[in-house]
Amino acid sequence: MPLVSPKDMFAKAYAGGYAIGAFNVNNMEIVQGIMEAGKAENAPLILQVSAGARKYAGQNYIIKLMEAALQDTDLPVVLHLDHGPNFELCKDVIDGGFTSVMYDGSHLPYEENIEQTKRVVEYAHARGVWVEAELGRLAGVEEDVKSDEHIYTDPDQAKDFVTRTGCDSLAIAIGTSHGAYKFKGEPKLDFDRLDKVAQLLPGVPIVLHGASSVPQEFVEMCNTYGGHVPGARGVPEDLLRRAASKAVCKINIDTDIRLAMTATIRKHMAENPADFDPRQYLTPARTAVKEMVQRKIKNVLGCSGKA
Ligand code: G3H
Ligand code: 13P
Ligand code: ZN
Repeated sequence: MPLVSPKDMFAKAYAGGYAIGAFNVNNMEIVQGIMEAGKAENAPLILQVSAGARKYAGQNYIIKLMEAALQDTDLPVVLHLDHGPNFELCKDVIDGGFTSVMYDGSHLPYEENIEQTKRVVEYAHARGVWVEAELGRLAGVEEDVKSDEHIYTDPDQAKDFVTRTGCDSLAIAIGTSHGAYKFKGEPKLDFDRLDKVAQLLPGVPIVLHGASSVPQEFVEMCNTYGGHVPGARGVPEDLLRRAASKAVCKINIDTDIRLAMTATIRKHMAENPADFDPRQYLTPARTAVKEMVQRKIKNVLGCSGKA
C-alpha cells in the first residue's frame, strides 16, 4: 500500500478519543522496529524525519526504505517531515513523496510565522499534502537550538493562526519539552489550555511534541552499563493518555526510541565484549525499538487495532 495522508487517520482518532504515534526515524533498524510494532498491533503509523535525520540518512534512502517497508503490508503509514525549518526543505520533501510536513515557525515573530506557514500551506495543499504548524514554544533541545523557557500557546491566538494560515493541524505548548530532561518538579500538563484550544478550534487535530515518557528502566540500564543520563525524566504515560482522549491526535516520540536502542546496545556490549559484528547488537536494539513502540501504542496512544 502506498503512503497515505494523515487526514482519515486523524478524523478517526479525533472521533475515537485516541492518538496516532509519530515516531522519529534515522536508519533501517528504527524503520523496521516501528513497522514490526505497527503490524503486531494493527495500528496506524506516522514515521517522521527531522532535518537532521534527512541529512544523516539522505532523502533517497529514506524514501526507498519506506517503499521497502510498505511492500508487503496494508498498514496505513504517513511519511512526515518533523520541524521543517524553511519553505525550501518542505518543498523538497513534498516533491520527494512525503505525505505530510511540519513547518515550524514557532521561533519567529507571530506575523512572520503566519506568512511562512501560509506559503508552505499553499504549496502543500496544491499537491494534496498535509501541513502541521506550531504556535508557542517548548523548552528543551531542538536540533541545536536550546530554549530554557516554555511559552505556552495562547488559545485565542491559536484560533487566529489556524484561520489565517489554513494549516491542517497545530502543535501547541502545554508543558511538554524535547529531550530526556523534561521536569524538575512535579510533571504536569495544562489541560485547561488544551481544552480551550479545542473549544475554539473544533475538529482541528492537535499535536504534542516532546512527548516521550523516558521509562526509568531504560535510564537505569543506560547508567548501569556505562552511560550517563542521571535524572532523566519524561511525561508520565497517564497524562499523555488523557491528552490522547481529548483533541490531541498526534503524539511525537523520539527520545524513548533513542533511549531503548542505546540502553540495549550498551548492555549487549558490556555483556558480550568479544562481539564486533554490528548485527549482534543491532538485532536486540531493533527488538527494543519494536517493544517500545508497542508499549506506546498500548499504554499511551490507544490506537491498537485501529489500522
Ligand atoms: O524534535 C526533535 C526530534 O527529536 C528530532 O531530533 O533533530 O536530533 O533529529 P533531531
Ligand atoms: P521527545 O524528545 O520527547 O521524544 O519529542 C520528540 C519530538 O517532539 C519530535 O518532534
Ligand atoms: Zn518536536
